[in-house]
Amino acid sequence: MLGLGLTLPRPLPTSAELTVANEAAAPARGSCGTWVTCSAAGRGEGHVTRGRLSRERPKMVAAKRALPWLAASLRPISSTAAGSLPKQVKIVEVGPRDGLQNEKNIVPTQVKISLINMLSETGLPVIEATSFVSPKWVPQMADHTEVLQGIQKFPGVSYPVLTPNLKGFQAAVAAGAKEVSIFGAASELFTKKNINCSIEESLQRFSEVMHAAGAAGIAVRGYVSCVLGCPYEGKIAPAKVAEVSKKMYSMGCYEISLGDTIGVGTPGSMKEMLSAVMKEVPVGALAVHCHDTYGQALANTLVALQMGVSVVDSSVAGLGGCPYAQGASGNVATEDLVYMLHGLGIHTGVDLQKLMEAGVFICKALNRRTSSKVVQASSRL
Ligand code: HMG
Ligand code: MG
Repeated sequence: MLGLGLTLPRPLPTSAELTVANEAAAPARGSCGTWVTCSAAGRGEGHVTRGRLSRERPKMVAAKRALPWLAASLRPISSTAAGSLPKQVKIVEVGPRDGLQNEKNIVPTQVKISLINMLSETGLPVIEATSFVSPKWVPQMADHTEVLQGIQKFPGVSYPVLTPNLKGFQAAVAAGAKEVSIFGAASELFTKKNINCSIEESLQRFSEVMHAAGAAGIAVRGYVSCVLGCPYEGKIAPAKVAEVSKKMYSMGCYEISLGDTIGVGTPGSMKEMLSAVMKEVPVGALAVHCHDTYGQALANTLVALQMGVSVVDSSVAGLGGCPYAQGASGNVATEDLVYMLHGLGIHTGVDLQKLMEAGVFICKALNRRTSSKVVQASSRL
């Protein structure tokens, strides 16, 4: 028996099984050493060689058969044991943006496109694709137009992009964005470091974006960063988070994502902060965005769910960070979030196995180990 009342009816797949699965989830390397993808399956880039597996790699077939039990066999615990929880959670996948903005090396555009296409196949409803920020500030996102135009747009999936100001908004719309996110913070110093203005000035810029978005019929999500602590100011008053959230919600953002940017929050501080924000913004319009620096992200998310939040941001393989929040580690891994939610009997619509394959793909491309505990446990690393 695992935590949260989950029962695993058979042993985890062996490392050999998952390694084979992982290998198959990675794209082939082209002769020039760049990642290439196979569109032979007829659905464009990112659908790596899966179509050939059954003929070429019998071991892989066994591994692929071994994985589905992972999600399917989790027995939900009763809602009384878990407290009051939503029946359904919308997951906002931020890996391609929050994750890849923070990589030291520039990730090839084609890898980003392949990752997003693989994520689109998992059933995720929202995939944050890129940022229309200054390439001088964040060179990792300089290929925003190519990424947004290169991905397959799956029906029913939204692909929002970050826009800090009107210039970014106009560029995003010209590239085909149908939804954008503005990003502010509850800390003056972080706002200055991140977007080079005061909170008040940022709200003025955002209102210009809101105005243009309203005219263009584009939905806008709002982020408030540093809701549980700031790398420059330390503790942030819940009242300040509530004030900035209220202003962004009043401007017309349909959702406010509360970011624990440096992952210092605990279930206690999350509860205190959310209680303050919920007095100003309806809980149905709130999301949480937890970085996992101190290992609290899942616990903090669970508290938010118990308080009625039903939208959660997360990042495949636990990628993530912010170039202007030193020391911040990745977001809660989407794989771990899905595992927990399914174990609680909460519907996400996400296929955990396909998600794990997307995580393996990007970790191979970045030559790094996954931060997802579920994937680590499954491969006995
Ligand atoms: P600035 O230098 O103050 O801008 O940067 P400016 O208005 O003074 O203009 C300077 C130059 O930048 C001009 O070009 C502008 O045209 C250009 P020049 O005349 O010198 O050639 N410029 C732009 N170029 C491209 N796209 C734009 C844009 N705007 C101006 N949109 C700016 C201000 C906001 C642009 C800059 O500070 C910036 O790009 N910051 C982005 C920082 C960032 O992306 N941070 C990470 C995302 S936030 C995050 O990760 C937190 C989150 O995950 C939630 C959480 O975890 O809490 C969301
Ligand atoms: Mg973030």
